[in-house]
Amino acid sequence: METSEQKPYPFIGEILITPEQIKQRVDAIGAKIMEDYQDSDNLLLLGLLRGSVMFLTDLMRQIHRPMTMDFMSVSSYESDDSSGFVRINSDHKTNIRGWDVILVDDIVDRGFTIYTVRKLLLDRQPRSLKTCVLLDKVDRHQYTVPIDYCGFQIPDYFVMGYGLDIDEKGRNLPYIASVDLEKYRALHG
Ligand code: IMP
Ligand code: MG
Repeated sequence: METSEQKPYPFIGEILITPEQIKQRVDAIGAKIMEDYQDSDNLLLLGLLRGSVMFLTDLMRQIHRPMTMDFMSVSSYESDDSSGFVRINSDHKTNIRGWDVILVDDIVDRGFTIYTVRKLLLDRQPRSLKTCVLLDKVDRHQYTVPIDYCGFQIPDYFVMGYGLDIDEKGRNLPYIASVDLEKYRALHG
């Protein structure tokens, strides 16, 4: 069996994006970032833990110029009356003042996480701030967020793999798959 076809969880639905397709987009985004930041001496990829880890580490291998990485971990609590907040579980270490920062996340859904983290980072006065996500559920946006680099636009499925999880399961898959939620609920409640 091809690695890309292995299904180690019983609740994997359809494979939506193969490892080959992911690689192609990651390479293209890497090349674009190289071009856009050729005059920058202080490029920082700032990933949101834990979903962005695979994407960020693959992406930085395609950026053949000086750069560094950092991470922060946040939990978003969003309610329907838009009184949500983001809790910082652990903050980034770099003082980003004067840096060219690219905020990297796995997926934009309602946009709340990126919207809130962007505001927070802008307060810290980076030289520039852009956003890079692997996946974008375009039909779900409720907050206006600029997405400068995007791997794939996807429909409103719950997805897992290549860093993305459902209750911490599925991050290790080399592809992006939909979650069979009926099966998942039958197994995990
Ligand atoms: P937002 O704040 O509504 O944009 O949600 C973004 C966050 O929700 C992401 O950083 C993911 O952690 C999580 N998320 C949203 N959709 C999915 C999905 O389909 N699979 C896994 N995680 C998701
Ligand atoms: Mg996340």
